[in-house]
Amino acid sequence: MKIGVPSEVERDERRVAASPDSVRRLTQLGFEVLVESGAGRGAGFADADYQAAGAEIAADATAVWNCELVAKVRAPQTSEVGLLREGGVLICLLFPAQHEALVQALAARRASVIALDAIPRISRAQKMDVLSSMANITGYRAVVEAANVYGGQFTAQMTAAGKTPPAEVLVIGAGVAGLAAIAAARGLGAVVKVFDTRLAVKEQVESLGASFLELDFEESGEGGGGYAKVMSQAFIDAETALFCEQAKRVDVIITTALIPEKRAPVLITTEMVEMMKTGSVIVDLAAEQGGNCALTEPGELVDHGGVKIVGYTDLTSRLARHASQMFSANVAHLLEEMGGGDNFSIDEENDVIRGALVLRDGVNKWPPPEIPVSAPSPVRVKKAKTGVRERVSPPPPPARKPLSRAIASLVAAIGLAGLALYTTQEFIQHFTVFVLACFIGWQVVWSVTPALHTPLMSVTNAISGIILVGGLLKGASGEVDLATLLGTVAVFVASINVVGGFLVTHRMLKMFRK
Ligand code: NAI
Repeated sequence: MKIGVPSEVERDERRVAASPDSVRRLTQLGFEVLVESGAGRGAGFADADYQAAGAEIAADATAVWNCELVAKVRAPQTSEVGLLREGGVLICLLFPAQHEALVQALAARRASVIALDAIPRISRAQKMDVLSSMANITGYRAVVEAANVYGGQFTAQMTAAGKTPPAEVLVIGAGVAGLAAIAAARGLGAVVKVFDTRLAVKEQVESLGASFLELDFEESGEGGGGYAKVMSQAFIDAETALFCEQAKRVDVIITTALIPEKRAPVLITTEMVEMMKTGSVIVDLAAEQGGNCALTEPGELVDHGGVKIVGYTDLTSRLARHASQMFSANVAHLLEEMGGGDNFSIDEENDVIRGALVLRDGVNKWPPPEIPVSAPSPVRVKKAKTGVRERVSPPPPPARKPLSRAIASLVAAIGLAGLALYTTQEFIQHFTVFVLACFIGWQVVWSVTPALHTPLMSVTNAISGIILVGGLLKGASGEVDLATLLGTVAVFVASINVVGGFLVTHRMLKMFRK
């Protein structure tokens, strides 16, 4: 199967959908690769680099678009759609919900289209997640742009000539881009504060050395699938008050607040910009989705009374080499998932492929059926002594007692009780052990965090194994008394635990298989 990699025609787009490294990987996967001459120039890849990696170079776009599969970065323009071969496969960023006319034009060519932006955000798909790899680069570059425009140093300095304080940076939105921005700003020595509507990110923020700002408000920002939801006007007002407070103090604000398929919320008003110190900087990563700052102009650097507002929309292209490397690695992983060059197929049973499939042979497949994602964490509010309401992370849920462990405890209880009754002289001694076992078992099992259930299950399975052996020996003794009966019951119950353990493990392993 031949993959065509055309040059990007969109203004300011310097990324390319294949790098020499990804060409090597794709040829190993059984694909042939045809790259348009000059396609990698903006990212620093020469035609010769692609040839050395095993690609062919096409003099113009026509031959590239005529390949069975075309991989590119941006959605095709109208002129490009006409070049796509009838029944061809196209893989690119598409944002289908916002480009209905384009989807219809592609359907008219009976194309099969995979939208890279629609790859589901599940663990297995992380290596194909273009949105994450690009957001990571954007967050980093936002700090570089801020440092470039800001008239001071990010780190604190102490010299013979005097000292300067560290820059204070406020990051709004701690998704992938926000977290990358926090890490980069901390790396430059800035003091970083962060706000996000999703409390789930608090720990991640703090682990990067930044402080998490909290609001006196009872509303969860979880919108499902790790994304945020549109907040109530009252919440936005409370948030705005917090930012007013911060705007007077901080030197740099980096905004990344986005809600899927919605206009970005306006969080930095003109009044706030006017409250900021002269020389302060705002970098608005939501510029393309309408902007988080009221004064942002997409693609431009605006100076409003000495405060600079950076609205660049080409931040990934400003690091085109690494962005292209990441992007093309994501594409190569996706093509591997689709069977490689020899067994390429659009498998609708595969939840990653189905999630990103927009058209199949011209037939509309969008939107895909929902796939279950992890449940959002609830938020509760506690009243602090000062009267200020303080939002706190919910305590870890009490570890639910899985059936296997309940059965293990029951088996242990029955076994010990049987033993105690069987040897009456030793009753007190055994009963003491029994009570202690119940108490310690209860404490140990009940306090285990869900993350440790799997190793715990192995331990309970091992204990069940011991119970099985004991029960079998007792049951096979030929005597008919209470102990034998209890031994037989123990064998039955422990078997359920062992078989159940294997079934659960099998199901868990299946989650990580294709
Ligand atoms: P995004 O780009 O859609 O949003 C950026 C951030 O803005 C989010 O953290 C959101 O909570 C925040 N935000 C929205 N409205 C806000 C407001 N009014 N005030 C303050 N902050 C606001 O998010 P991104 O970066 O695409 O990732 C979202 C989440 O998706 C991640 O944090 C993660 O949980 C999940 N994810 C999962 C992946 C996987 O499992 N493969 C890969 C990447 C992300």
